[in-house]
Amino acid sequence: MGRITLDKVEKRFGDVQVIPPLDLTIEEGEFVVFVGPSGCGKSTLLRLIAGLEDVSGGQIRIDGNDATMIPPAKRGLAMVFQSYALYPHMSVRKNIAFPLKMAGMDKAEQDRRIDNAAKILNLTDYIDRKPGQLSGGQRQRVAIGRAIVREPAAFLFDEPLSNLDAALRVGMRLEITELHSRLKTTMIYVTHDQVEAMTMADKIVVLRAGHIEQVGSPLELYRRPRNLFVAGFIGSPKMNLIAGAEAAKHNATTIGIRPEHMGVSKTEGMWKGRVGVSEHLGSDTFFYVHDTGLTDGITVRVPGEFDLKSGDTVYLTPDMTHLHKFDDKGLRIE
Ligand SMILES: Nc1ncnc2c1ncn2[C@@H]1O[C@H](COP(=O)(O)OP(=O)(O)OP(=O)(O)O)[C@@H](O)[C@H]1O
Ligand SMILES: [Mg+2]
Repeated sequence: MGRITLDKVEKRFGDVQVIPPLDLTIEEGEFVVFVGPSGCGKSTLLRLIAGLEDVSGGQIRIDGNDATMIPPAKRGLAMVFQSYALYPHMSVRKNIAFPLKMAGMDKAEQDRRIDNAAKILNLTDYIDRKPGQLSGGQRQRVAIGRAIVREPAAFLFDEPLSNLDAALRVGMRLEITELHSRLKTTMIYVTHDQVEAMTMADKIVVLRAGHIEQVGSPLELYRRPRNLFVAGFIGSPKMNLIAGAEAAKHNATTIGIRPEHMGVSKTEGMWKGRVGVSEHLGSDTFFYVHDTGLTDGITVRVPGEFDLKSGDTVYLTPDMTHLHKFDDKGLRIE
């Protein structure tokens, strides 16, 4: 259960085409992440799958059945939003029970599902509290619990962690990944957080202006971005993109080299520059190198500490085994 197929799915708001006809298959049990810049159509695509928006064209199939005209409640999908919208006057138990009660489910079956979800999400000790007596992470878990008890064919998450602070996000990220490996239910997860996409996904779908730029595993996208957009979008800090004479030497219009694939020396190397800002993370150091004559501000990432100050001369040597080449249309060569 939980195979979702989009066949030429299209969305227009009035005259504005937000999603041009798009094809995508999400396999049963897959964890698929939609990423892309703000306004590229991630939420719209998720809402089309959920049935919260009507398609302007095309077909959505869930487990082989045409679901295009089926109302959201009958699609067997459960959505978790960024704002978790719990009922403040109801206990955790009642909040989780709500969709089951609405569906008129038998009380014993309701309790079985709620107790099971509470156990999976470590909410058993909080089951009688009101949302106001919970932390942000616990509240988000209640919202996920409300989705779990419906035993959906797929979970749809729209930036569920973006209201949480950094430490909680990391914790919840792991919890959702573990939840997926335990439930093995299809999950579609929207985020613009790089790290979430890379660490959680079986498959990443990179969107731009409503169309798919590339679909692949996190490492496929990292190792072989299909075009300049994906090259610049996947990876943090961003890949350095160099055009002009240096790229022409490699029979390319643009060459790309990731910050972590750049060798650094104080004495010798291929490109000479001057250190600008450096950022010391402890585990890594990022340098921004200027005046190389290539492109302004080459970013370099070295593990651990590296003793360079602003204004120092530095030599950079790219690791040629990790060189990316792009043609005049911005498409990957080789
Ligand atoms: N109801 C609507 N009417 C008109 N335009 C809309 C409507 N909903 C969304 N849009 C437009 O559709 C485009 C895609 O919006 P969407 O919310 O899907 O983007 P997103 O990728 O989720 O962005 P973000 O990362 O900011 O959440 C945007 O240009 C947005 O302005
Ligand atoms: Mg959105």
